[in-house]
Amino acid sequence: MKSAWKDWHAKKEGVVEPEVEKLEKLFKENNAGRILDVGCGAGRHTFYFASKGFEVYGFDEDEEAIENDKQMLRKEELKADLRVWDMTKPMPYQDEFFDAALAVRVIHHTSISNITKIVHELDRVLKPRGFLFLQVPSYESETFDAGTIWIEPGTLVARGGPEKNVPHHFFRKDELLGMFPGYATKELHSNTDHYGGYCLIIQKGRKHAAFQCSFVSGLARENQ
Ligand SMILES: C[S@@+](CC[C@H](N)C(=O)[O-])C[C@H]1O[C@@H](n2cnc3c(N)ncnc32)[C@H](O)[C@@H]1O
Repeated sequence: MKSAWKDWHAKKEGVVEPEVEKLEKLFKENNAGRILDVGCGAGRHTFYFASKGFEVYGFDEDEEAIENDKQMLRKEELKADLRVWDMTKPMPYQDEFFDAALAVRVIHHTSISNITKIVHELDRVLKPRGFLFLQVPSYESETFDAGTIWIEPGTLVARGGPEKNVPHHFFRKDELLGMFPGYATKELHSNTDHYGGYCLIIQKGRKHAAFQCSFVSGLARENQ
């Protein structure tokens, strides 16, 4: 599984998503200084926010990527708290520790039940009024080819290639919003590059959300 990311890490180093640059302004305006980069990979967003003076934490299951990131940070004289961690496990941070979290093209790489756990964990570690930025693949905009196997509704694995056996969950719009009932949607749009996924910026309410994910039924739910 880890080798699946080598090409991605090599290709994406240093290139920052346009939405992530916009987030900097939002975070600064709201004094959101401590942020988490979930599945940070080659660290493009970790570096970006660290270089802008944010207190950055990040993790990825790929040991080599984290080691490279740490070396780069030292070289650039930047600081970030990085560790090797599996996002499907309880996250190694206190409750309500972060002002903001981002997970760029990461949380869909697992099963629906694990995504539910990740969403709970993100909610736990975010402060009330904390921001969450997600970029995930869209079920609506994707065309699916024959080289894939559906392992559950909305989740497939490739039969071959560099991402062989890596799960990809494709989110329906209502499914994605329904995962965050206690959050206010600041922005939701489709990505314009080849990736074609959803970009979502949401803000946590004052209380913990009563999560009732309707992954399978896909029923629309009012987002508060
Ligand atoms: C498509 S890359 C995105 C990396 C980074 N967020 C970015 O935008 O450049 C997906 C990342 O998710 C990480 N990943 C996949 N499954 C993971 C897991 N279970 N726990 C932690 N990281 C994981 C991979 O190692 C890889 O770095």
